[in-house]
Amino acid sequence: MKAPDCDGPASDNPAPPLLRWPGHPDLPLAPGQTVLAALEAAGLPWPASCRNGTCRTCIGRLAAGRVRHTIPWPGLSADEKADGCFLACVAVADDDVTLAGPGA
Ligand code: FES
Repeated sequence: MKAPDCDGPASDNPAPPLLRWPGHPDLPLAPGQTVLAALEAAGLPWPASCRNGTCRTCIGRLAAGRVRHTIPWPGLSADEKADGCFLACVAVADDDVTLAGPGA
């Protein structure tokens, strides 16, 4: 039996990554949960339409952190990606991320 660790939580049960959007509550992200799904589950407004990474309605910009897209060719240019843009409907985060907001 493993002894309790008085210095903090066990490292084999890490906290989920947090989705931060200044002015809104921090949201824990479930594994594989898209940014859009987390925002909608919390009742936070974010534009969306196709929900499959093609229409760009859900485009947003990151203030900090990184996301990965669940489709191989999300509708973003290389310059947009380099500028922190992402498509919330097909974007997942493995670490904490901070949103700047919707729009490119
Ligand atoms: S809702 Fe269409 S690309 Fe995300």
